Amino acid sequence: MCGIVGYLGQKKASDVILSGLHKLEYRGYDSCGITFYSEKKDTFITHKDQGRVRHLEDDFDYNHDNHLAIGHTRWATHGEPTQLNSHPHRSADGRFIIVHNGVIENYHEIKVKYLDNVTFTSETDTEVIVNLIEHFSKSLQISEAIRKTLSILEGSYALLILDTEHTNRLYAAKNKSPLLLGVAENGMTMASDVMALVGHADHYIPLEDKTYTEITATNDGFVYDMVDVIGKPIQTKMIKMDLVTEEIGKAGYAHYMLKEICEQPSVVRKIMNRYSKNGVFHIDENIIQALSSASNIHIIAAGTSMHAGLIAKHYFEVLAEIPTQVHIASEFAYNMPLLGEAPFFILISQSGETADLRACLVNLKEAHHPMLTVTNVGTSTLAREADYSLEIFAGPEIAVASTKAYVGQVTVLLILTFLLSDKKMFDLNAELSKAAVSMEAIIDNRDYVRQLVKDRIIKTSCFYIGRGIDYYTCMEAALKLKEISYIQTEGFAAGELKHGTIALIEKDIPVVAIITQEHISKNTRSNLQEVITRGAKTITISMKHVSNMKDDIVLMDTHELLTPLVSVIPTQLIAYYSALNLGRDIDKPRNLAKSVTVE
Ligand code: M6R
Repeated sequence: MCGIVGYLGQKKASDVILSGLHKLEYRGYDSCGITFYSEKKDTFITHKDQGRVRHLEDDFDYNHDNHLAIGHTRWATHGEPTQLNSHPHRSADGRFIIVHNGVIENYHEIKVKYLDNVTFTSETDTEVIVNLIEHFSKSLQISEAIRKTLSILEGSYALLILDTEHTNRLYAAKNKSPLLLGVAENGMTMASDVMALVGHADHYIPLEDKTYTEITATNDGFVYDMVDVIGKPIQTKMIKMDLVTEEIGKAGYAHYMLKEICEQPSVVRKIMNRYSKNGVFHIDENIIQALSSASNIHIIAAGTSMHAGLIAKHYFEVLAEIPTQVHIASEFAYNMPLLGEAPFFILISQSGETADLRACLVNLKEAHHPMLTVTNVGTSTLAREADYSLEIFAGPEIAVASTKAYVGQVTVLLILTFLLSDKKMFDLNAELSKAAVSMEAIIDNRDYVRQLVKDRIIKTSCFYIGRGIDYYTCMEAALKLKEISYIQTEGFAAGELKHGTIALIEKDIPVVAIITQEHISKNTRSNLQEVITRGAKTITISMKHVSNMKDDIVLMDTHELLTPLVSVIPTQLIAYYSALNLGRDIDKPRNLAKSVTVE
């Protein structure tokens, strides 16, 4: 949550920061701000306010040459999203300026112990950090003052710091929150996400936890120095930038979400390519070995990734015959269940930065449990810190509502479980290709879904019902609809409705049924009949082999195990068009952020 970006180089720094903030806005969009060093005025100028980056740009004074700047886009934790609480924050004597992504857990203790004579102007924990640096700078060199501060801070932080006495330097530090250093001959960029480095860096370095970085503009160019908290130089890993500008644009679509929905068939094909050679699927033998010797599997994730985990549980049990449990990360972190004799853990996360999952990872590492992360970001914290990692290659997912990452996670986990299975019940290549074609068919027919939504979905509430893996898809469908349309929606096990919840069904309540599995299709249809009798307005989504004449959306067949890849698509379109009809901010729904880096 929150995005930070900083620049020191030959380009106009405020341009780099503003365009970076647009790219990072998916991480939080309550308020934003920028501070740059104006060479003309020889002073640091700050613009910050509630609301979006475009609002900040409206009042921005572009008439300043500047080559050093930091910026922030916020998802509020401490203090409401107001102008005063927006970043950057300045220390009481005005020397230091800071932006921060993360949460400082001991900010209150710090205030009491070191800063009782400081007058704070915001309600943020961040202001404590910048004042603590100032406090130590009275007796220490700047680098020592920052490192001393880091040794006291508890919690998560990615920090960019300006010292008004050194206008050729940018300082940074990180613990638990992501931070990357983008390296180019003409300047250095620091950002929470690689997207903000596109166009400004040839290579980048993911910063390690508890490290301090100093960037300096010298006569010979731009140099950086990376050390740990005690000042010991650390080894860094330089990664070549492989993202290009086109991958992070909307490509003519009205919203990122629609673009990402439409990209899903190609995500499946890309994964097939990445994980096969000459038509034969392949995954790192060490991962296959580790999983084969597990007595049971625990999948841990949050939100949409947790729903992908539920589908994967089905695969692990049916294909690989390994007992599997799925856990909500925020629950597992503090209420660990009995784990079994030789458990293996799979963490699923699009971003690879989710704080709830990181808390689980830390506990599991301490207990020396083996772990695999399945993620869309190969360089993310969870990917780096687990024993093994598998990338889903979905490409940048920018809409807050996750779509193509879900399909990517399910596809990769399907391939993994297929390789673990002795039986090879079907031709995976052929079935995945069929699934991609079936996905394409419904995407091409999206205007029909748009009309259906107009006729049947109302504003106040909605139900999705299904059984088995269709029930899991219903949970994901419900999350998507409520997340972007704000319509109260439940994903329900169809057979469970009659045990209480059916009391909520009355005339015109929308109920969407998902029916893809032959052995339970009749049961779900009976449950559908029960709600129709009570006046519900229904939409039925089925696969061809279990369809009825009157079904509203009939999807082209693929193997029954692969149906979740296809049946989720109309539900994403239902969510998208419902939100569009209601005039919602589809890519940036209220109260949310893409990367949830607070617990
Ligand atoms: O990055 P992660 O996959 O770990 O994120 C987990 C959830 O926050 C995420 O899936 C969230 O539920 C989505 N916004 C749903 O569309």
